[in-house]
Amino acid sequence: MRRVIIAGNWKMNKTSTEAVQLVKELLSKISDVKDVDMVVCPPFTSLESVAWVLGEGSVKIGAQNMHWSEGGAYTGEVSAKMLLTIGCQYVILGHSERRALFGESNADVNKKLRAALATSLIPIVCVGEKLEEREKGQTEHIVRDHVLGAFEGFSAAQLRRVILAYEPVWAIGTGKTASPEQANEVHAFIRNVLEDKFGELLAKSIRIQYGGSVKPENAASLLSQPEIDGALVGGASLDAESFSRIIKAVT
Ligand code: 13P
Repeated sequence: MRRVIIAGNWKMNKTSTEAVQLVKELLSKISDVKDVDMVVCPPFTSLESVAWVLGEGSVKIGAQNMHWSEGGAYTGEVSAKMLLTIGCQYVILGHSERRALFGESNADVNKKLRAALATSLIPIVCVGEKLEEREKGQTEHIVRDHVLGAFEGFSAAQLRRVILAYEPVWAIGTGKTASPEQANEVHAFIRNVLEDKFGELLAKSIRIQYGGSVKPENAASLLSQPEIDGALVGGASLDAESFSRIIKAVT
């Protein structure tokens, strides 16, 4: 059984004070939730203060990015160890905004994945096609390229801890969601790609989140799809009420 995981990607939103307030409010709303992995990914500047509030509780903390190197002359970057030592357990890698706005390539994502897996961080690797790619019928080609590019050089055993997030770029922040069936189809395709390359065990056990305009209103129908194991939520994770309703949509 794949355990459902709901993660909030706050992107470049919330000061430290606002972040602390948001998680406190969230905690008050999800105290009765069981059997769901819950993660919040605030900006770097709020990780430590949010980690203090969350403590050893059921909501875990993740970063939105990291560098592949252990340290050195990389102005503006942070390492896996820096994240781990302030209480991060997860890290988002290869988000489409990193790819589109900051030039991140599959090769970069691959190096970051290697660095994350060298520690105990749990990587959430994002993949997904742009609108023009979908319209040209290239969805499968792009998604395969992102998955195999990120996973290049790894064995199935090394990848067991990894989480994938299928985020069609055209659905991010646009209010347009992939239909539950559309999303499920791509998730099933990803499992086929993984089965061909890494075998059935990894293909069946890896968790694949859906991301792109997930809201309380559409969460239950997306999460009821057999191949969808959770959600990576942007905008709706910035509001404790919306995010808690998405989490509760799991059950
Ligand atoms: P939205 O939920 O705002 O569409 O963002 C999705 C996303 O990019 C999560 O990583």
